[in-house]
Amino acid sequence: MFRDLFALDGKLALVTGGSGGIGRAAAQVLQELGARLVITGNNEDQLKEAVGELSTGGDVTALYGDARDGDHVSEIVSTTERLGGVDVLVNSIGTQRRMPLLEATGADLEFLWSVNMGSVFTLTQRLLPQMVAKGYGKVIHMCSIVGSVVAVEDKTMYAITKGALTQYTRSSALELAKFGIRVNGLAPGYVDTPMTHGYIHSEREEEFLSVIPLRRFADVRDLQAAFAYFATPASDHVTGQVLVIDGGETLR
Ligand SMILES: NC(=O)c1ccc[n+]([C@@H]2O[C@H](COP(=O)([O-])OP(=O)(O)OC[C@H]3O[C@@H](n4cnc5c(N)ncnc54)[C@H](O)[C@@H]3O)[C@@H](O)[C@H]2O)c1
Repeated sequence: MFRDLFALDGKLALVTGGSGGIGRAAAQVLQELGARLVITGNNEDQLKEAVGELSTGGDVTALYGDARDGDHVSEIVSTTERLGGVDVLVNSIGTQRRMPLLEATGADLEFLWSVNMGSVFTLTQRLLPQMVAKGYGKVIHMCSIVGSVVAVEDKTMYAITKGALTQYTRSSALELAKFGIRVNGLAPGYVDTPMTHGYIHSEREEEFLSVIPLRRFADVRDLQAAFAYFATPASDHVTGQVLVIDGGETLR
């Protein structure tokens, strides 16, 4: 049956940043496809709210902590091990500091790098043995169109981290294919989430919308089918790809 290609019955999905806008939408769709969930985040109230929403659909384990903290990473690894090993890993942790380049410091870059790239690398590295042991796995990274095609003001450091994540997606896909592990990414334009809401719905809203041919920001629902595709056997012959979901912004 065609719909079996999209089944995740009994699989374990870890969504880092699963308390946030995009991560929560990813967790919801993976759960709907049958996965058991582990979600993480560094905002305790937001994490509790996410658990409240998701636990109506099935079992959810929530782990609160800072992704740069080794003890938190170890807790994620031991929890997923206890639950049978991770089958699907969605890395949706991310943060932003917008500022003109001339005002940016090395400390700003270090902060963004440590969250957006360093923590993703370290955690993924620690979890890969669980996938290697199964001979199968799906990793999905949250990249961005500013990590490759588009250059935008005030976001150079964020762009550096997402550019690295994009190339990490491709390089790791090549190295991990022999273990049956597929690595792909999503590269959205603006998605309306807690990270962006105040910024995009500001006096500059029309300016931001004017470069999007479909004339709207993405909603988290616009990303859900891509999560379903990359997490399930439907995409088993696809690896190292970063899917742009941007309302046509990068067409120009
Ligand atoms: N919203 C957009 O327009 C957009 C566009 C392209 C890419 N992205 C990327 O998508 C991902 C999700 O973004 P979002 O819009 O859902 O943001 P969000 O702010 O709603 O969620 C971010 C999540 O990351 C977690 N997080 C942040 N710093 C952390 C840390 N140090 N330790 C542990 N957890 C931490 C937060 O708790 C939250 O769960 C990010 O990687 C972001 O860069 C977002």
